[in-house]
Amino acid sequence: MFQSYANQNQTTPTFKTKRLLLEPFTFDATKALNQEEDEEWETIEELAGDAKVAMTTQFIPHPYPTGASKSWIASQQKAWSTGTDMTLAIKLIEQGPTKSKIIGVISIMSDIYNGTNILKLGYWIGSPYWNNGYATEASLVIVDFVFNTLNISCLWASCMSHNIGSERVFQKIGMKYQYSQPLVIRGQPIDCKFYNITK
Ligand SMILES: CC(C)(COP(=O)(O)OP(=O)(O)OC[C@H]1O[C@@H](n2cnc3c(N)ncnc32)[C@H](O)[C@@H]1OP(=O)(O)O)[C@@H](O)C(=O)NCCC(=O)NCCS
Repeated sequence: MFQSYANQNQTTPTFKTKRLLLEPFTFDATKALNQEEDEEWETIEELAGDAKVAMTTQFIPHPYPTGASKSWIASQQKAWSTGTDMTLAIKLIEQGPTKSKIIGVISIMSDIYNGTNILKLGYWIGSPYWNNGYATEASLVIVDFVFNTLNISCLWASCMSHNIGSERVFQKIGMKYQYSQPLVIRGQPIDCKFYNITK
């Protein structure tokens, strides 16, 4: 969906909001890890390994296999270079000398809905950080990037119909309800709501 932008910009963009940094992962699967990279994949596994986070997402496995976040991070880095997906760590900007810590993940992903190619927003926030407005704050800056930098005029998102928190984020960033449709998630048909926002 944004192949030409990704071709011109080898590295994934970074964003800064009032409280958050959205940054690509520094993990490099081809090299020996340094301490920061170790903390990165371990934090992802700790937060995404929580059933409260995994079970309302479409793709996070549960239980989370040990070490699986390393290959997941590597696959996201590849998806940027091929212009299909952009995935960023959401980090809380710390005051003082403490370095920013990962609290979640946000992505835009190429997908097909009802035969049409679309760009879709996805995110999760670690459960200790819920209900502080972080998913909303991160999503708003990504909507701006999609509309004003990528020049893509429509962004979609979907959530399980019972995922009230995520639906609320869609509404808070200005998305409008389009339709409901079941998706097969972990082998079960789950009723999902589809939203979008247009420029
Ligand atoms: C969905 C999720 C990303 C929201 O992250 P967050 O940082 O807590 O979101 P925000 O704080 O920006 O907004 C959440 C809103 O939902 C509301 N909310 C959350 N749970 C709710 C509930 N059970 N009933 C009513 N409102 C609820 C919050 O009050 C808040 O709305 P408000 O600002 O109007 O008060 C987070 O809960 C999460 O990661 N869940 C697990 C993974 C997931 O479901 N990802 C999305 C898949 S589509």
